This record gives sequence, structure tokens and C-alpha cells, in this order.
Amino acid sequence: MNILITGGAGFIGGNFVHYMVNKYPDYVIVVLDKLTYAGNLETLKPVMDRISFEKADIADRAAVYKIFEKHKPDIVVNFAAESHVDRSIENPEIFLQTNILGTQVLMDACRKYEIKRYHQVSTDEVYGDLPLDRPDMFFTEETPIHTSSPYSASKAAADLLVQAYHRTYGLPVTISRCSNNYGPYHFPEKLIPLMIANALADKPLPVYGEGLNVRDWLYVEDHCSAIDLIIHNGTVGEVYNIGGHNEKTNIYIVKKILELLGKPESLITYVTDRKGHDLRYAIDPTKIHNELGWLPQTKFDDGIVKTVRWYLDNKPWWEKIISGEYQDYYEKMYGNR
Ligand code: NAD
Ligand code: DAU
Repeated sequence: MNILITGGAGFIGGNFVHYMVNKYPDYVIVVLDKLTYAGNLETLKPVMDRISFEKADIADRAAVYKIFEKHKPDIVVNFAAESHVDRSIENPEIFLQTNILGTQVLMDACRKYEIKRYHQVSTDEVYGDLPLDRPDMFFTEETPIHTSSPYSASKAAADLLVQAYHRTYGLPVTISRCSNNYGPYHFPEKLIPLMIANALADKPLPVYGEGLNVRDWLYVEDHCSAIDLIIHNGTVGEVYNIGGHNEKTNIYIVKKILELLGKPESLITYVTDRKGHDLRYAIDPTKIHNELGWLPQTKFDDGIVKTVRWYLDNKPWWEKIISGEYQDYYEKMYGNR
């Protein structure tokens, strides 16, 4: 089996590459990544001798076709995306370029080279948000698309395009919509790694609004195992939600990180809320459980301990990131918040 993994130098894509290399030693694995600010070859260093790496933009048609011609993949798993909601609020355009047009180019290549499966890694954010006072409500695959941010709108547009390529051209596609991931190699602009890095530096921990928004956290390896099942056993044309009933408020997460690191809660600083901030995400994973037998393996209390440990043990990985141009980003986003 020959698998092309786009965005494989990012957080989830990188974890997926590690997962696949270890689980399927006989597979040929090719990573295609533009190496944007979020892509990091250090993430792939432990498996570099087991994969081929191609630096390219998924929206660059000529480059993508050349890579398909060279490697002739059977399966394409598309993780490549602009992924940070706050950045999409500042500058939506690159989100449309990569997340929508990039997806189109990849699928055109899949048609041209007659691949066996195109898998789109989507997000629960395409469903919008749920009210805080309705804990009985969950996102199912039937929940209408109803987006809030330029990021989620671009991901929803891509999903619709993927479904259109299936219906119109018969492209063998699957889509997964996962909740918030956490774990190793998570870029420190996102909630959990940002709070760990700030706490370790005794810097303020910027909590948006009152910290009462809810996210449904999934350890990244559980996301990888779900995608593995979908690409091998999932039904073509179907959407699968992925999540593990691990809803937590942001303030709970931040306090937990402080507790694990032995740092004081006085570091918490409430800052201006995110524009259009989604209130609550919560996935109903019944379909993937019933059809493919998937269940998450890592409980939040264990996953967060493992994650904090990883950031303590791998300081060079993230300290390098936050010492560079990330400083300018941080100042711009949080300087006057
Ligand atoms: P990330 O930002 O950590 O990594 C994105 C990767 O894509 C980087 O390696 C980057 O260099 C690459 N990339 C960006 N633009 C590219 C382009 N034009 N061409 C080629 N490569 C490009 O993202 P992530 O958090 O790992 O998310 C991966 C995917 O999973 C995304 O599609 C995201 O929408 C989805 N997702 C993320 C989460 C989450 O909690 N992080 C949850 C559900 C779904
Ligand atoms: O639900 C899946 C989505 O999860 C993915 O599609 C996105 O790619 C991924 O980035 C993530 O989106 P969120 O916006 O939920 O993640 P983020 O880590 O940016 O924020 C999590 C929550 O924490 C959110 O309610 C905003 C809040 N937050 C975030 C940051 C960065 C803060 O309070 N302070 C912060 O500094």
C-alpha cells in the first residue's frame, strides 16, 4: 500500500505519520507538506528514514501532479490546512486558498491518477456550536453545517466540494470530523501547549472571555486510530464523526495544567473574547463505534499527564518555535488584548 499524507509535518498529520510507520512497516509513506509556520521537519525526524518527503503546496497544481506521477499513491489522506481559528479571523484569504482550492487540486490529482481512496480530515467546527445549557445535545453526522469563523467556513466548503466530487465524478472519498485534539507536537499557539509554555515561563495565561466555553478533547493517537479504520474499512461517500465524550471548559483545562506543573492560579489572566467564539462542541461518535468498532483508548486524565510530560521532556522542539517569528505573532495577538 502506498499512502500520501498531506500536512504530515503538522501536529495531527505528524502523529499520523508516526502511527502508520509503526503499525504498517511494509507500507510506502510519502509526506507532502508546504512547511508553513505550522509545519516542522523536527516532528518527522524520528521516522525520516522510513518515509519520502516532498515539500510542496497542495494548491500548486503542477507540483501536486508531479508528486502523484512520481509516487502513484493508492490512498491520499489530506491533513494539510491552515488550522488556527484566531489567524483566520485576522487574515481569512490563505484559509480559502489552502483549505478550499488546495482540496480541489488534490482531488483533481486523485481523479487523474485514479487513486483508490481520498480521505478528507475535517473538523467538528463545520457544525457550528451547541448551547452551554443543553448538555443533552451532540453533533451527529446529520447535524446541519452552520459555520462561525473563516476557518470553519473554509473547512465546510472543502467538505461540500469533497461530497460533490463523489457524487459528480464518483471519486472514492471519505470524510472525518473530529473534535479538539491534544498531545505531542501540538503547535504552541493552541490552548493546551500555549498554556503549558506560558506556565513554565511564569507568563500570564490568557483565557478568552470567562473561560466557560467547552471543547470535547481527544488524545491525538485516538484520532489517528480512527482515521486508520476509516481509510481501510470505512464506506465510500460517508462522513464519520470522531470524539470521545471528553467535554471540558477552558478554565478547567487551564487550572489542570497549572496544578500538574505546580504553578499558581494567579497566572490566569482573563482577556478579550475571540470574535464569534463558538460556545460548545460535543461529538456523538455512535456511527464510527457501531460501524467500525472505534473507541478512544486514552482517558483525559491520563492524556493530559502524558502531554504535559512530553512538553517537559521535549523543550528543544517547542522552545525553538516560540523563540522565532512566533514572538511577533504573540505580541500582535495578545499585546493589547
Ligand atoms: P497544523 O496547523 O498543526 O498543521 C498543518 C500542516 O499543514 C502543517 O504541517 C503545514 O505546513 C501544512 N500545510 C499548510 N498549508 C499547506 C499547503 N498549502 N500545502 C501543503 N501543506 C500545507 O494542523 P493540525 O492541527 O495538525 O490539523 C490537521 C488537520 O486536522 C487540519 O485539516 C484541521 O482542520 C484538522 N483538524 C484539526 C483538529 C485539531 O484539534 N487540531 C481537530 C479536528 C480537525
Ligand atoms: O474542534 C476542532 C478544532 O479545534 C480544529 O478544527 C482546529 O483546527 C483547532 O485549532 C481547534 O480549534 P479551537 O479554536 O477549539 O482551538 P484553540 O486551541 O485555538 O482554542 C481552544 C479553546 O481555548 C477555545 O475556546 C478558545 C480558547 N483559548 C484559546 C487560546 C489560543 C483561550 O482561551 N486562550 C487562548 O490563548
